[in-house]
Amino acid sequence: MESNNLPLIKSAFGEDFYWGVSTAAYQIEGAHEAEGKGASIWDVFSGTKGKVKLNHNGNLACDFFNRYPDDLQLMQSLHIPNFRFSLSWPRLLPQGYGSVSQTGLAYYNRLIDHCLELGITPWVTLYHWDLPHALEKLGGWTNRKVIDWFQEYAALCVKHFGDRVKHWMVLNEPMVFTGAGYFLGVHAPGRRGFGSFVPAVHHAALCQAIGGRTIRSLQPEATIGTTFSCSHIEPLRSTEKDERAARRVDALLNRLFMEPALGLGYPLQDLKFMRRIEKYMLPGDVDLLPFNFDFIGVQNYTREVVKHSFWTPFLQANLVPARKRNVPYTLMNWEVYPQSIYHILHQFSQYPNMPKLIVTENGAAFPDQLLDGQVHDPKRVAFLQQYLQQVLRAKAEGVPVTGYFVWSFVDNFEWAEGYDPRFGLVHVDYETQQRTIKSSGFWYRDFLKGEATVAAE
Ligand code: BGC
Repeated sequence: MESNNLPLIKSAFGEDFYWGVSTAAYQIEGAHEAEGKGASIWDVFSGTKGKVKLNHNGNLACDFFNRYPDDLQLMQSLHIPNFRFSLSWPRLLPQGYGSVSQTGLAYYNRLIDHCLELGITPWVTLYHWDLPHALEKLGGWTNRKVIDWFQEYAALCVKHFGDRVKHWMVLNEPMVFTGAGYFLGVHAPGRRGFGSFVPAVHHAALCQAIGGRTIRSLQPEATIGTTFSCSHIEPLRSTEKDERAARRVDALLNRLFMEPALGLGYPLQDLKFMRRIEKYMLPGDVDLLPFNFDFIGVQNYTREVVKHSFWTPFLQANLVPARKRNVPYTLMNWEVYPQSIYHILHQFSQYPNMPKLIVTENGAAFPDQLLDGQVHDPKRVAFLQQYLQQVLRAKAEGVPVTGYFVWSFVDNFEWAEGYDPRFGLVHVDYETQQRTIKSSGFWYRDFLKGEATVAAE
């Protein structure tokens, strides 16, 4: 594998590099009916038979709502300085707007205070997919009113937590929550079709920038980012058809939300079928889409290999599954391809007005086993080392990457896949809620303490 031959040691990334772990509210908190909380679209979706594997749901999840003091203690014991988590919108605003839940506010106040007491810096995502169900009943992301609802929610968060939270992320992976939730129907709220997808995309892209501006206006000194799912894309064959198909997939998966934020508009040149979005653009929207983010959150797990497919509606392209390519892959069937993160960091850094990049998620699900009170997960250790090596390689070549967060701190609810895929540095026994630090957790601790490692080949 191409590498930069630099030893994998924390100091090689520089003194001011941000190291952390990432989570999301619905995936860890549980307490789905805690006093004052409204239902989210994920409560409703996972409560509907047949939507999530084995009908799993996030009702209890990792019970982080109650166990956060112990979990933060564990995080501190692993020397993890930065903790990315999201706020649950319906825990704060049970109806999505209007009356505020005091219990919800008190919970996040306790959580943030506790982080700070332990010397852990909170990095807060405003929206990681758990829209209040009350808003979905009004059309959710397809209703342009979501802009007002989101602005009110963002302002509430900054007003109550901005005295202590200095790092914000507006949205988590808008391409995934609009694509899987409003086009494919495999994530909440389970809507399908182009007619839902296109307005959801436009309103999410507007909220991304408007959310940024809301934070900036109330907390000018805050560091503000937003996050994107992204994968390095390659054509299956070097034919013109596959190459053009790969370009379309790249525009859809990697560029659709980022380019409007950078002031470049939607990449409609390469995505002709998305031209219908213009129908939802009101006068002035062009100026509302950009925002000067302080950083872009890069969330990378794999690469995608693409082939032309005449029969696939709209995109006329198919992703060739890793299983069919004779390459290593994870429990999510995602190819293990460390160079993907290197290529995508380079690709993003080529935009002239790109701010700093922070890897806000990277990690892998492998079949873990708890044996004699231990979880030995060498594949995850190798995965993290190899991807980090590629981050370092990009950084050494001048890419302005300034942080890296592992997905995830603890095993958690993996959306439509339920609890089977485990991504944590810490194992969770869902019967007992017992936590066990995996070998990968110990490796990350030692790395963060400054010990050098050699990335496994
Ligand atoms: C999401 C996480 C998810 C992870 C692994 C990202 O798409 O932000 O919520 O658990 O990837 O699938």
